Amino acid sequence: MKTRITELFGIEHPIIQGGMHYVGLAEMAAAVSNAGGLGIITGLTQGTPEKLAAEIARCRTMTDKPFGVNLTFLPSVTPPDYPGLVQTIIDSGVKVVETAGNNPAKWLPALKAADVKIIHKCTAVRHALKAQSIGCDAVSVDGFECGGHPGEDDIPNFILLPRAADELEIPFVASGGMADARSLVAALAMGAEGMNMGTRFIATKEAPVHENVKQAILAASELDTRLVMRPLRNTERVLTNAAVERLLEKEKAMGAELKFADIAEEVAGVYPRVMTEGAMDVGAWSCGMVAGLVYDIPSVQELVDRIMAEAHVLISERLAKFAAN
Ligand SMILES: Cc1cc2nc3c(=O)[nH]c(=O)nc-3n(C[C@H](O)[C@H](O)[C@H](O)COP(=O)(O)O)c2cc1C
Repeated sequence: MKTRITELFGIEHPIIQGGMHYVGLAEMAAAVSNAGGLGIITGLTQGTPEKLAAEIARCRTMTDKPFGVNLTFLPSVTPPDYPGLVQTIIDSGVKVVETAGNNPAKWLPALKAADVKIIHKCTAVRHALKAQSIGCDAVSVDGFECGGHPGEDDIPNFILLPRAADELEIPFVASGGMADARSLVAALAMGAEGMNMGTRFIATKEAPVHENVKQAILAASELDTRLVMRPLRNTERVLTNAAVERLLEKEKAMGAELKFADIAEEVAGVYPRVMTEGAMDVGAWSCGMVAGLVYDIPSVQELVDRIMAEAHVLISERLAKFAAN
């Protein structure tokens, strides 16, 4: 399937694996790229330029297909070495960066000079337009359904995607709530030229996370996510558990008085313990509503092949039948 996204990134299928903290390691990115999609290493999980360079080199031993690096720009008291991470990406010859969080304008000149393509993830049409105006090559439009940070506007993809299509000139992929061929074909119908998946890719054989995490996603329904940190305007969609319920009780009790320090126990330093050790109740970790559409733990290749095969059937049989009437 050829779209402006497959052309831009030199990939076979219009499917991207979004950056995921403590999930987007070399094994994950290589598996997605080997299956014909675009795998993404999560830069901040490595943390330092040296570790990121080593992870990129490790990924290269597992695939000769294109893969990208995610750079998430978050406000932080002690910011990571962003200049060093950007330079590492350039020096390593990686040609795709998925940016997320704050406006990436500051980093674009260096990346573009090195012929790196930039896809910026955003949750609002106004942010997508901004990304287009500063020179991003594509955007990932992340609806309210998404795992992780959906922003504060709460616009689901059935509205957000056609709105993005009405406004944007650069290509975009649909992100948030994407699980299968139906997601892909619907996204294409609404103007996207591919899809980005997070949660769905965690429930695969190759995802380098503890088996408990995969089983938790498999067991979860679409009713099992919660939005946390809304009072801090840093909303995150997470899988519910004992720590999340405790966090929400604190939010309710403290109202506008809530500070990050009040909930640090439930959110800080949680990822390694959940993803690596499989300690499922220690804190809040991102998960999309799409968990309700996850019924198995296939290999990445099986998942991508199934999506593409079923998408072709959907388009050439189901939709063609309606068009013929
Ligand atoms: C466990 C997890 C960790 C994530 N970490 C990041 C991250 O570090 N940076 C980022 O830009 N997005 C992150 N995301 C968001 C994903 O890249 C993607 O946009 C999102 O999962 C799409 O929604 P979906 O889960 O419904 O597919 C994360 C998502 C999950 C589920």
